[in-house]
Amino acid sequence: MFRKGGDAINRQSHQNNVIVKLENINKEYDQEVLRVDNLELQKGLIYGIIGPSGAGKSTLLRIINLLTPPSQGVYYFHGQPVSKGSRELTNLQRKMGLVFQKTLLFSDSVWNNVAYGLRARGYNREEVNERVDSLLDQVGLRDLAKRRADTLSGGEAQRVAIARSVAFDPELLLLDEPTANLDPLNIELIEEMIATLNREKDITVVIVTHNVFQARRIADQVIFIEKGRIVEMGSAEKIFTNPEHEKTRLYVEGKVIS
Ligand SMILES: Nc1ncnc2c1ncn2[C@@H]1O[C@H](COP(=O)(O)OP(=O)(O)OP(=O)(O)O)[C@@H](O)[C@H]1O
Ligand SMILES: [Mg+2]
Repeated sequence: MFRKGGDAINRQSHQNNVIVKLENINKEYDQEVLRVDNLELQKGLIYGIIGPSGAGKSTLLRIINLLTPPSQGVYYFHGQPVSKGSRELTNLQRKMGLVFQKTLLFSDSVWNNVAYGLRARGYNREEVNERVDSLLDQVGLRDLAKRRADTLSGGEAQRVAIARSVAFDPELLLLDEPTANLDPLNIELIEEMIATLNREKDITVVIVTHNVFQARRIADQVIFIEKGRIVEMGSAEKIFTNPEHEKTRLYVEGKVIS
């Protein structure tokens, strides 16, 4: 079993440990697709975002990543409001790793794929070598270092994508359905990778998943979204065993909600 409980709860109690805070944020396209009155992401925790298709999960993740600008509201990073279009935005994005369901690796070796973000961030050659080797070791990918990324299986490629996204020690790792369409073994390997990165490097994780069992397995806090609103957020234990809202209960029981 992965880390759960005790230390997470203790860390949670530190008010100063809020990395990202969203305040009265909304996103409108033709119509409003997401509204978040208040959401705080605490350092060191794993957050699972669950909810039906079209609920706004990816939109929320992209807003957290500063990829999608909210239509209204305030985004705080370590308590500082971040203004739209500021130069600081790119710097903040560089503190976050992002992994999508469809992995986009460069047609180059696995090693170079992991090295890429480090070079882009100005790490020197020695640091790059050291970090890439050590990371590939840690995530059990050393044997694949020289392989061209386009020859990897889906599961291997996704593991490389995660290694690449954490090589520069991001504060936040954001994952959008990283294990959709993978086999159970790779799902387990990736969940272990995420848990280990969280535990050993203290990386805060936000994972969007359709798989409620996955959220239950790895998340400390679960955020249930439906129709662009956070219906409920709470400990995995609470959301899965004693949710406040009927819709949450139905969803985690696998029922279709309307
Ligand atoms: N660029 C866009 N332009 C217009 N509408 C959009 C855009 N991006 C998202 N939407 C709409 O916003 C809503 C939420 O989309 P989002 O991708 O966040 O859902 P999701 O919860 O991630 O769904 P899924 O589980 O299917 O990935 C949907 O109705 C979608 O059509
Ligand atoms: Mg999505």
